[in-house]
Amino acid sequence: MRINFRSAAVVLMSCLATAGPVAGQTLAGEIDKLSAAVQPELIAWRRHLHQNPELSNRETETAKFIVERLRAFGLEPQTGVAKTGVVAVLKGGRPGPVVALRADMDALPVHEGVDLPFASKATAEYEGNKVGVMHACGHDTHVAILLATARVLTQFKDRIPGTVKFIFQPAEEGAPLDEGMAGAELMIKEGVMQSPKVDATFGLHVFANVPTGTITYRSGPFMAAADQFEILVTGKQTHGSAPWRGVDPIVVASQIVSSLQTIVSRSVDITRLPAIVSVGQFQSGVRNNIIPETARLVGTIRTFDDDVQNDIHARVKRIAEGIASGAGAKVEVKIHRTYPVTSNDPKLTAQMLPTLERVAPGKVKESELITGAEDFTFYQRQAPGLFVFLGITPPEQVGKAPANHSPLFFVDEAALPTGVRALANLAIDYLSSGAAKTDATKAGR
Ligand code: NI
Repeated sequence: MRINFRSAAVVLMSCLATAGPVAGQTLAGEIDKLSAAVQPELIAWRRHLHQNPELSNRETETAKFIVERLRAFGLEPQTGVAKTGVVAVLKGGRPGPVVALRADMDALPVHEGVDLPFASKATAEYEGNKVGVMHACGHDTHVAILLATARVLTQFKDRIPGTVKFIFQPAEEGAPLDEGMAGAELMIKEGVMQSPKVDATFGLHVFANVPTGTITYRSGPFMAAADQFEILVTGKQTHGSAPWRGVDPIVVASQIVSSLQTIVSRSVDITRLPAIVSVGQFQSGVRNNIIPETARLVGTIRTFDDDVQNDIHARVKRIAEGIASGAGAKVEVKIHRTYPVTSNDPKLTAQMLPTLERVAPGKVKESELITGAEDFTFYQRQAPGLFVFLGITPPEQVGKAPANHSPLFFVDEAALPTGVRALANLAIDYLSSGAAKTDATKAGR
C-alpha cells in the first residue's frame, strides 16, 4: 500500500487523538477479566432483586441491598438521596474528570406472569388498589449491572484517572401523584450532579425485541418527551329527549377529540421529527337518556423537540377552547409535563461509539426514535450524557417477545455481562480521554 503525506498525517493525528482510549484499552483487558469473575454474583443479585421488587419511592429494601454491597467493595455510599436513592463516589488514584453512571431501582404495579423460579410474588398498595409488583421494565438488571460495574472498577481504583459516581435512582416510573418531585429531577435538586461536579453521564436500559447483547443508541433526540393532558368540558345538563334545553358536553368533547387529530397531521413538520397526540380516556354520563353536565378527556403528548412540544401544548389549548366556546360550553385544559426529550449529546456519542463497538463488536446498531420516555434526560440537561439500550431478547424471539412493562416481560440474562462491560469501559475510556487532555494541556505549557 502506498503511503502518501496525507495518510501519514492522518495516522499521526489519530495517534494523538487516541491517546486517551489507548490508556483506557490497557484497562479493557482487566475489565473483561473482572467482569467475567463477577458474573455469578451479577446473576444472583439480579434474581434476588427480581424476586423482591418495590414500587417507586418505596425502594427501601433495594437500597439496603445496594448499600451492603457497595460497602463490601470499600465504598462509602450516601443514602436517602431523593428519598430512597443511593450515591457512591469512587475516587481514582490519578487525577481526571468525573463521570456518573446511573441505574434506576423501581418496579411496576404489574402481576408477574413469567414462569421463573425467582418470579415475583410481591404485592403492594397502588393508588388505593392491591396490586402485584414486578420488575417489568428490567430495573432489577440495571441495579445488578451497576453493582457489578462498581465491583469491577473498585478493584483497580488506583489506576483510574478521575472519579466515578454511582447513582442508584428511585422512582424512574414516576412517584405517586401526591409525592411531588421525584426520581432523577429530585436527585439533581439534592445535588447529585455536584461535589464533585459531573462532567459526563452514562446510562443503559434493557430493551425487549432487541437481540441479546446488542447495544442500540442514537445521537441527538432519542426518546420522547411525555406530557399528560386533561380537558374538562362543562356543558349544561338536560334530558336526553330535549337536548335543545342544554349544552351537550359529549358532543363538544367528541369534536375536540376529532380536532386534536389534526395537530400532528396538519400542523407538525413531520419531515423533521414525529409527534403523537393520543386520547386515552373519555369519561362522561351515567344513563341513556340523561345528557350529562361534564365530559373529561385525558391523553398523552409525545414529542422530540422542545419547540414542537410547546407548539402542540398551545394548539391543544386553542382547539379545546375554540370548540367549547363555539358550542357555548366551558372548558378547562391542564397539561402536565413529565419527562423532557432524552437527547444524547452528539459529540459525546461520537466519542464513545468506538468504545461500544469494542465492547460488542458487530452488535452496535443505531436505534429508531423511541416514543417512550425516560427521566435520564434530567442528568443530560446538567452534563453531556449518553443513554443506550441493551438487547435482552434471544434472537429467535425478536419481534414476538412481550414488550417492557408487560406481565410477560422476560430478560435473557446472557446479555447482562455486556451491560457491565459497557458501563465500565464507557467510564474508563471517557476518564482516560479527559486525563489525556489534561496531560496534553500541561505538556503544551
Ligand atoms: Ni424503565
